[in-house]
Amino acid sequence: MKKYTSISSIQEFLVKEKRRGKTVGFVPTMGFLHEGHLTLAQQARRENDIVVMSIFVNPLQFGPNEDFESYPRNPERDAELARSAGVDVLFLPEADEMYSGSSIKMHVTERTQVLCGSKREGHFDGVVTVVSKLFNIVGPDNAYFGLKDAQQVAVIEGLVNDLNFPVNIVRVPTVREDDGLAKSSRNVYLSDSERIEAPVLNKSLKDAERLIREGEADPGRIISYIQNRISAETSGIIDYIEIYSYPELTPIDQLQGEFIIALAVKFNKARLIDNIIIKAAQEEIHHV
Ligand code: PAF
Repeated sequence: MKKYTSISSIQEFLVKEKRRGKTVGFVPTMGFLHEGHLTLAQQARRENDIVVMSIFVNPLQFGPNEDFESYPRNPERDAELARSAGVDVLFLPEADEMYSGSSIKMHVTERTQVLCGSKREGHFDGVVTVVSKLFNIVGPDNAYFGLKDAQQVAVIEGLVNDLNFPVNIVRVPTVREDDGLAKSSRNVYLSDSERIEAPVLNKSLKDAERLIREGEADPGRIISYIQNRISAETSGIIDYIEIYSYPELTPIDQLQGEFIIALAVKFNKARLIDNIIIKAAQEEIHHV
């Protein structure tokens, strides 16, 4: 596995490989890798000649009261895990290398006023800035993003459409425990009893999907159904349960076309998020 810290050297390597006709799959991360990242890398491995992973804790996407300084970092362990997942090239730039000028500011105008975006002002501006730069540096054919963070996927798809990046965005389903709980580094903060309750989040989303399949088309009734299940069967406090068209993330009156049901629930020491994306008009349903 090759490691690069400078933009010019990774570009030089990848330009040569692409001239030889090699396809490039790209997995952008902020490091401290977990199974979710490794699943993205393994899928990229299967679908591309060269797999590039970036590890860069992007200061621009952290708010002033967020945990940029204390964000967990473990580059040695990350390198081992990346290698084992089939990564060929690791890109580990310093902040000075990534942000040498300041003449451009990117601002996302849609898809960010709802869900987690509404609570993290400027977060997605920082995400699209770094992802644009990384796309320009790596020039990937395919870039892999996990649907656990479905709003990020929607924002990146908007970015690629609006700015015509020649990159195929691959939506990768959420990795789950056997009981359906979405894998997250925060799950360790659940108490034993909360851990037993937590799969209700995914179960209620799946049961809501069944109700929709059976003909329920009213978003309000689906939201109430999920609210009641989570309140009755867990000790968690519901932060939000919302339904929007996907990936546009605009409100809908009827459960038609492609839409997302997304939720966030606060337990004592962990706030969990989960979602399901449903294509109601067609047979194909994305379980995420
Ligand atoms: O999902 C993440 O880890 C980050 O938001 C990303 C896409 C690597 C950009 O910094």
